[in-house]
Amino acid sequence: MSASEAAPFAKTGGLADVMGALPAALAELGHHVAIVIPRYRAISLDGFDRVYDHLPVWLAGVSHRTEIFARQERGVTVFLVDCPPLYDRNGLYFSEGVDYADNHVRFAVLSRATLEIARRLFRPQILHCHDWQSALAIIYLHSTLSRDPTFLGLRTVFTVHNLGYQGRFARPALEEAGLDMSVFHPGALEFHGDMNLLKGGICFADAITTVSKGYARDIQTPEFGFGLDGLLRERSYALRGILNGADYSQWDPETDRLLPANYSARKLEGKLRCKQALLEEFGLPQEDMRRPLLGIVSRFTAQKGFDLLEEISEELAGEELCLVALGEGEPRYEDLFRGLAERHPGTVGVRIAYDNRLAHLIEAGADMFLMPSRYEPCGLNQIYSLRYGTVPIVRATGGLDDTVDTSTGFKFSEYSGAALMAAVRAALDVYANQDRWRALMRRGMAKDFSWKTSAAEYSALYASLLDRA
Ligand code: ADP
Ligand code: GLC
Repeated sequence: MSASEAAPFAKTGGLADVMGALPAALAELGHHVAIVIPRYRAISLDGFDRVYDHLPVWLAGVSHRTEIFARQERGVTVFLVDCPPLYDRNGLYFSEGVDYADNHVRFAVLSRATLEIARRLFRPQILHCHDWQSALAIIYLHSTLSRDPTFLGLRTVFTVHNLGYQGRFARPALEEAGLDMSVFHPGALEFHGDMNLLKGGICFADAITTVSKGYARDIQTPEFGFGLDGLLRERSYALRGILNGADYSQWDPETDRLLPANYSARKLEGKLRCKQALLEEFGLPQEDMRRPLLGIVSRFTAQKGFDLLEEISEELAGEELCLVALGEGEPRYEDLFRGLAERHPGTVGVRIAYDNRLAHLIEAGADMFLMPSRYEPCGLNQIYSLRYGTVPIVRATGGLDDTVDTSTGFKFSEYSGAALMAAVRAALDVYANQDRWRALMRRGMAKDFSWKTSAAEYSALYASLLDRA
């Protein structure tokens, strides 16, 4: 597998959670699995061995000198591609809100190095790439490397975690990424005159997956297809949805070591201590522990639906509740949350940051979890919330719709502030009756979204591709 992030090494969102857990779940099923990610600045080499000294990656006549490091993690070989001029930078994808101008080269090197690792260090039968950053590995196999005997019979799977990020670059990037005109046509990478790497992955992979059944349907419609719905409909025979799992070794209130107290459906007291710690953390009043506490942990982008929160913010703050939010991203939403906290001290607490410990504390300490997403391929936080007894309030879209139902949470369909507010009010009504509320919490906590089932689905997909060989 190749991807741009993997927990616990480098993470900005759910892709890292998947890369941290799915390979291990596949290894438990008996597969030999290796993953390849870039060695970013924040990744320490502790425990890694240098396994290849000078792996040359040639792109457009330029040699990128890479070194490969490896270590075992939960039964999986983790390869790091070290290339300081490309990856030794502040952010994974951008700095100060601006994408690195050479991202196509950075991820071309990741993709090309993945194939060299597959040639020299770890011979797979299946190459599984995630999102546009590693799509190029599949594209090379169908263009510049199509006659390379090493890779004959290698089957490819491409997982789309988010159609909103396509890796779209102006035409000159094609050569810089080591490609030629043979793949620059509307049936391959060309997209309105630009190069589109996600599109290339979708065109060339033997199988395409996305991270929920609902989203697999959604992306075939113009509303959620980001211009690729036609292609996805055309390739629907090769496309399927496989729901992400939750990594309960990291996300379980009974064993979570990042919490001030542990708890379970049978013994809920610890959750109250987490709530207290969370209120304290945000400087919110701790006198009335019965006051419902709503939590948000999110990348701040348009996808996540916070403009709906903006619409209802005054109404919401007028209710008897507290709201805490953790996230970072687009300045527009950072300002929105900062403004909310300033206008409603004592009710709203906000932390603009990336903070894993606090993410866990919010999952545990909040009573309700808000995800009003405009679209959501899978969404992991609502799945974690269920396990933590933190009742999710979600918009019925993609993976949110597939994982939350009326017996475990609250859903609304229309993308409007009024619909969100109605769902919040419905939740507050049930919360007022603590017996009903605890029954709702316990139903959610009893749900099992462990990786086992999803890993078995991937395993069956791989087997079907090899059968076809
Ligand atoms: P997405 O991948 O679209 O961001 P998901 O719900 O699938 O959404 O996954 C988000 C993951 O990233 C979760 O593990 C969540 O806890 C984590 N996360 C998001 N923002 C932050 C943050 N500011 N601090 C810590 N963890 C975060
Ligand atoms: C993407 C999606 C999210 C999904 C995650 C992991 O970032 O936005 O819904 O859970 O990938 O697949």
